[in-house]
Amino acid sequence: MRCRMCKERAVISMRRHNTAFCRLHYREFFFRQVSRAIQEFGMLNPQEGVLVCVSGGKDSLVLWKVLHELGYKTRAMYIDLGFGEYSLLSKQKVFNTAKKLSQEPIVVSLKDMGFDILASAKAKHRPACSVCGTAKRYCFNRTAFEEGLQVVATGHNLDDEASRLLGNVLRWQTHYLAKQSPVLPSESEHTPKKVKPLVKLTEREVAVFAFLEGIDYILEECPYAKGATSITYKLLLAQLEEKMPGTKHAFYLGFQEHLSKFSLAEAPKGELKTCKVCGQDSFEETCGFCRLLGQLSP
Ligand code: FES
Ligand code: ZN
Ligand code: ZN
Repeated sequence: MRCRMCKERAVISMRRHNTAFCRLHYREFFFRQVSRAIQEFGMLNPQEGVLVCVSGGKDSLVLWKVLHELGYKTRAMYIDLGFGEYSLLSKQKVFNTAKKLSQEPIVVSLKDMGFDILASAKAKHRPACSVCGTAKRYCFNRTAFEEGLQVVATGHNLDDEASRLLGNVLRWQTHYLAKQSPVLPSESEHTPKKVKPLVKLTEREVAVFAFLEGIDYILEECPYAKGATSITYKLLLAQLEEKMPGTKHAFYLGFQEHLSKFSLAEAPKGELKTCKVCGQDSFEETCGFCRLLGQLSP
C-alpha cells in the first residue's frame, strides 16, 4: 500500500476516502480535517481563548495537541471524577501530554467540591453517566467563565457524533438533534460557545494519529460506561460501514445540511435565571449541579 501523495509506504488506508497516506501526509491530512471543520462551522477565531476538556483519552489529548499546534490560545482542563485507579491513571496521561506541550492543565476535583458521582447517582436513582454529565457541564461552564475563556472544545469524533445522531433519530428527539450541532453558540457570559473540532475524523483515524504522534493515553473506558447504548449504536454503525464504506460520514455530515430544520428553540426551556447558590446560568432558582450537591449535604 502506497501513499497517494508521494508513493512512499502508507501507514494508513481509509476506505471511506478511498485513499492511503504515509506518516507525513497523514499528519497533513489530519490537520487539514480539523482546520476544515473549524472553518466550515465557524468554530474558532484566533482571538478566542479555548478551554480544551481533557479526560486522558486519545480524542481529547489529540485535540489539545492539534489546537495548540494550530496556534489557538488553549488551556486544558482535567476533571478528577474520583474513580480510584482509573482517575489516577487518566490524570497521569494528561500530565504527560502537558509536559510535552509545556502547558499547565487546570485540574478540577469533584471531591474537593464536595461532590461524589456514585453517591449522587444512588440518591437520585440515575445512572452514574447522567449525573457525571451534569457535573462535567457545570465544570466546563464555570471554569471557562472563571478563566475568561470564550470557547469550550471537546474531543467528540465522527463515531461519537454518528452514534448519538442514530440514537436521537431512532427516537425522533428533535430538540436533541438541534443540540447536536458541532457548534453551540454562547447563551450568556456564563455559558461559553461549545465546539467539536474532531467531527470529521473517525475514532480509528484519531487513534492512528495519537499513535504516530507518541501521545500516551488511557486505553480503558470509564468503568461506568459499560452497557451504554452509545456502544450498541457504534457497533451497528461499524457493521454498516464495513459493508458500505462512507456511510457513517454521509450519515453525520449529511445531517449538517438538514440542521437548520431543527431549532434550538424547540428545546423545552424556561427563562434563563441565575443560580442562587453559585451564580451560574440556570432555568430554575438553583442550577442542576447545585441541586445534586445539596442532596448530598448532611
Ligand atoms: Fe462520566 Fe463515565 S465518564 S460516568
Ligand atoms: Zn506521502
Ligand atoms: Zn448553581
